[in-house]
Amino acid sequence: LASSLLANYCTELHDDQTLKVDKYLHHFQLSDKTLMDLSVRFRREMDRGLSRDTNPTAAVKMLPTFVRSTPDGTEQGEFLALDLGGSNFRVLLVKVMANGKQEVEMENQTYEIPEHIMRGCGSELFDHIADCLANFLEKLGIKDKKLPLGFTFSFPCQQTKLDESVLVHWTKSFRAYGVEGKDVVSLLKKSIQKRGVSAQNPSFMDFDVDILAVINDTVGTMMTCGYDDHHCEIGLIVGTGTNACYMEQMRNLELLDGDEGRMCVNTEWGAFGDDGALEDLRTDVDREIDAGSLNPGKQLFEKMISGLYLGEVVRLILVRMTKEKLLFQGKTSAKLLKTGSFSTSFIYGIDTDKEEEGVEHAEEVLRGLGLDPLVEDCIATQRVCQVVSTRSAHLCAAALVAVLRQIRDNKAAEKLRMSGLKTKEKLNKMYLLFLRFSRRLHKMVRRLVPDCDVRFLQSQCGSGKGAAMVTAVAYRLAVQHAE
Ligand code: GLC
Repeated sequence: LASSLLANYCTELHDDQTLKVDKYLHHFQLSDKTLMDLSVRFRREMDRGLSRDTNPTAAVKMLPTFVRSTPDGTEQGEFLALDLGGSNFRVLLVKVMANGKQEVEMENQTYEIPEHIMRGCGSELFDHIADCLANFLEKLGIKDKKLPLGFTFSFPCQQTKLDESVLVHWTKSFRAYGVEGKDVVSLLKKSIQKRGVSAQNPSFMDFDVDILAVINDTVGTMMTCGYDDHHCEIGLIVGTGTNACYMEQMRNLELLDGDEGRMCVNTEWGAFGDDGALEDLRTDVDREIDAGSLNPGKQLFEKMISGLYLGEVVRLILVRMTKEKLLFQGKTSAKLLKTGSFSTSFIYGIDTDKEEEGVEHAEEVLRGLGLDPLVEDCIATQRVCQVVSTRSAHLCAAALVAVLRQIRDNKAAEKLRMSGLKTKEKLNKMYLLFLRFSRRLHKMVRRLVPDCDVRFLQSQCGSGKGAAMVTAVAYRLAVQHAE
């Protein structure tokens, strides 16, 4: 009897807390209808970005990437890759073997980018990247080789060719000055060339590389899955930031000449809403996050979705609920009031399939923040994490559905154009995320487009390896061209 009473009590307690949080966070819970409407809106934004007339004022920039070919399996050689823009900076050496099995061997090293370099002078940032590259080459004993290099640079860039990429503006935690409006390949080359040069030794060359390609991380992600599965047509990232790329028909890319074939487009969907298009869905908490960020008014969609912000969204909700005496008996703590004290990784420990373990984890986290939580506070905190993370997955799903519809409509048009030719309906995309998040994302995508056959693949070692793959393709095409 005692245990069944206790079980009843627990269920009631759980339901009460869920109800309380859901009532407080009703703006965070988006119905299927709202998400469908959002998806239609995003599709319109994509059109605005693709059209020559509307592109200059469009929030979603739909940037051409100049990536037109995916690997065909005949690529081979050794390639270097740099990966800048997530939580870490990485240097990789990727050996691609043309043994028919599409095998790849990798060495990689992670380096830190200190905050003062992320937000300091641009030339110091590129000098630091060149330092790390030198250290990596030295460690592997390959400083005397001039290898082809691919650079994953995960920020919005205006490209005119594969190896020229002008930074439009910084996003996420970067703000090094003197880089916006400049070609990042030239900046990196400059930093490499000036190493060790002095008045006594003006022609000194510490090491040299052949920079063949700059790509966005979404493109790299698409390319790594593309290598194993030639039909992968969308790359999706939900990490520090969020963004997606996909293969678009050249004739829809009005910014470029030429109508034949396809090119990968970097949507830069994180900027959705920067022109006011999301005002009905943004909450006071979203506005507070934006106001306190490095780039107010920018990347508004990203700030509702990605890892750099979700922990802070949860923290702000907890603070507000406490001030309204809905949590912790109205008592906050100095730590809870501190910006950034609730890390996004806490959410994934609390919002797990094993709910009880999640509640225990919530208690641990809350105590770590100097609070003295009751069981109901821990349950309520878990619910807050669930709601925030679910909203993120659902927003992502809405935008992804717009991309899927665009690809599907392109294929239908293509079928009409080349009647008789079969086209593949299978659409693959990849994600880099936690299990629960990706399940919610998949479920919502399938609910919003039940008639679309989507297959989700997880990218193995995503963006860095992808840069090497793009470089390998560029290298193969250059060699073929020269022959
Ligand atoms: C930000 C960047 C974008 C990148 C994404 C994921 O949104 O602007 O280029 O792809 O983060 O890293």
